[in-house]
Amino acid sequence: MTAARRTRTIALLGHPVAHSISPRFQQAALDAMGVDARYEAWDVEPVDLPGAVERLRSGDLMGANVTVPHKVAVFRLVDRPDALAEQVGAVNTVVNRAGVLEATNTDVAGILRSLEGAGVALKGARVALVGAGGAARAVVVAMRTAGASRVTVINRTAENAAALAPLGGVDVDMRYAPLDAEDATFRSAIRTADVVVQSTSVGMRHGPAEAETPVPGDLFRPGQVAFDLVYVPERTPFLAAAEAAGATPVGGLAMLVHQGAEAFRLWTGMEPPLDVMFTAARAALAAREHST
Ligand code: ATR
Repeated sequence: MTAARRTRTIALLGHPVAHSISPRFQQAALDAMGVDARYEAWDVEPVDLPGAVERLRSGDLMGANVTVPHKVAVFRLVDRPDALAEQVGAVNTVVNRAGVLEATNTDVAGILRSLEGAGVALKGARVALVGAGGAARAVVVAMRTAGASRVTVINRTAENAAALAPLGGVDVDMRYAPLDAEDATFRSAIRTADVVVQSTSVGMRHGPAEAETPVPGDLFRPGQVAFDLVYVPERTPFLAAAEAAGATPVGGLAMLVHQGAEAFRLWTGMEPPLDVMFTAARAALAAREHST
């Protein structure tokens, strides 16, 4: 007798979730690998989060991705958040192991894989990090993990930057500079950086400052890497300015796909088909472009 086959589900918990392209590239990866599973976006209001997380324990669920605004709240609802999730202070992936919910943060691996993919050596690197929000926390933990020597957090609000300082641990020299292109500390942090990471929403399509770059082009130099976590558009004003000055641009789509690929690996135990995921993600973005 053969066991009855049953299609399992992987959920994306967020609010709103309609704009997410994760269902597109995750489903493409599941299909390409012959996994009998559906990746579904669940629009979950904060008040309904405990119930949604309980559903993940069912045998039909393989796990979930978690996105805004639930990345912090989901912590106390899962059984085993790992050390990485604790360090970042946010969960983006849940794995259902026979009713026990394990949780981690694959943004850190997504950041490291994106930079590795571009051939960036992070050991001993000096990093300038623009922004101090949730994404920036994952960047600091990633830089600490990779052995960067210095991270200068450049932010509009000093208190928010200060909150990131403990994440560097004992080995990373954590510094601060104001987000002000006239400021000497800011200018020197960018000029001396091996890698400049942009983690604010500046330059994002339909965002508050879509035509702007927080780092003026004249501060970049050849040999530097400029990494923008924003992925719409693929070439942001920040990346364009960096590239014009001879720096190497790395776009946020790499981060989005790599964090998803690491989650795919955890749910399925399979090597994620990166080419399939990148192709599907680009197609989803292009389709969205034409519909708006
Ligand atoms: P995310 O989770 O994507 O990192 P977030 O936690 O809301 O989002 O963080 C947003 C970051 O972008 C913050 O560093 C914020 O600066 P403040 O700490 O001063 O609020 C920064 N940011 C957002 N809009 C900005 C703008 N128009 N100019 C400069 N910085 C901006």
